[in-house]
Amino acid sequence: MPGVITLIKDDHKKLEAVFKKLESAEPADTPPLLQQVQELLVPHSKAEEQVVYPAIREAAPEEGSDVDDGLAEHHHVEETLKSLLGADPEAPGVDGLIAAMIGEVRHHVEEEETQILPAFAEQADNARLSELGEAFVQAKERALSELTGGTTGATRS
Ligand SMILES: [Fe+2]
Ligand SMILES: [Fe+2]
Repeated sequence: MPGVITLIKDDHKKLEAVFKKLESAEPADTPPLLQQVQELLVPHSKAEEQVVYPAIREAAPEEGSDVDDGLAEHHHVEETLKSLLGADPEAPGVDGLIAAMIGEVRHHVEEEETQILPAFAEQADNARLSELGEAFVQAKERALSELTGGTTGATRS
């Protein structure tokens, strides 16, 4: 199992690829892309909250306030995604809200990749990172099936 930090960064790259598509999509084409964002982002965030953030608080207590900020950002982005998924894609303001959400996630990802995860990497050995990688993948799978009720965007028409 790759280390948890590698897994997290892989997810961030996948998300960024969907963001790029969203940024150039016509409004009518955004709902399936927003759905993809939700299915990538929500399980990722939940798994970070359940598995990764507690381990970081323990190993690198000085990162506590960054972890608190990270949690608040997860929740805010989730709320924004929910309202976007319930909105008419052509409605005024929706494009601005999508842009704001993407900006917020990019800022959050940068904070994780440049602050929180490097601080943790200094304190955790490879065996620990690999063990957490396993738990991270499992937590993501659980969260994804809670989110989709067993189906994903790939199988839903
Ligand atoms: Fe996060
Ligand atoms: Fe993340």
